Amino acid sequence: MMAQGLGECAPEGSGAVYPNGVYKEPLDNREGGPVENTLYAVLKEKQGEVVTIAPTVTVREAVDLYIRQRIGALPVVDEGKICGILSERDIVWRCVKNSLDPAVTTVGEVMTPDPICVSKEMTAEQAMVCMTQERVRHLPVVDGDRLIGIVSIGDLIKWVVRDQEHTIQDLMKYIYDVRA
Ligand SMILES: NC(=O)c1ccc[n+]([C@@H]2O[C@H](COP(=O)([O-])OP(=O)(O)OC[C@H]3O[C@@H](n4cnc5c(N)ncnc54)[C@H](O)[C@@H]3O)[C@@H](O)[C@H]2O)c1
Repeated sequence: MMAQGLGECAPEGSGAVYPNGVYKEPLDNREGGPVENTLYAVLKEKQGEVVTIAPTVTVREAVDLYIRQRIGALPVVDEGKICGILSERDIVWRCVKNSLDPAVTTVGEVMTPDPICVSKEMTAEQAMVCMTQERVRHLPVVDGDRLIGIVSIGDLIKWVVRDQEHTIQDLMKYIYDVRA
C-alpha cells in the first residue's frame, strides 16, 4: 500500500486537472521560491514513504492502518492513479454519522473523491494558504505524474514556526552585533 504513479500528467502550467485528483500549481512564482522552503524540502526532512490505500479495502482495515502508522489521512490509489483521500473526518461524517458498518463499508464509498494535489515546488506558505482556502488538513504532493508524499497542517505549522525562529535568531544576532 505504498506510493504508486498517478498515470497521465496534467498539462504543463495548465493549473489543471489530473484524470482523477485536482492539481494545483504554485500560486505565483513558477520557481516556488527558495528551494529550501518548498514542499520537497518539507518532505525530505520528514522522510518515510507516503502510505496509500485501495478503494476496495474496508474502513475497518483503513482505521487499523491509521493506528499502526499514526497518521490521519490516506491517499486512495486505484490502478496507479490517485482517486481520493480518506481522512479521519470522512470516516466520522460519512461512515459513523450514517451508521454504516466499518467492517463492510469500503474506503471508496466514504472517501473524498478528486482530492487537491499540489506540486513539490509549492512553498510551505502557499500550501498553508491552499489548505485554508480548500478547508483541508492534508495535501498529497506530486512530482510530475508521481505521488511523492503528503503534508499535513501539523507538518507545515512546525516548518513555518521553525523558519520564523531562525529569522528571529538572525535578527537578534544582527541587533546585538550592531550594538557591540
Ligand atoms: N506533524 C507532525 O510532525 C506530527 C508528528 C507526530 C505527531 N503529530 C501529532 O498528530 C496530530 C495531528 O497531526 P497532523 O496535523 O500533522 O496530522 P497527521 O496525524 O495526519 O500527521 C502526523 C504525521 O504523519 C504524516 N502523515 C499523514 N498521513 C500520511 C500518509 N498517508 N503517509 C505518510 N505520512 C503521513 C504527516 O505528514 C505528519 O508528519 C497532532 O496532535 C500532532 O501533535 C504531528
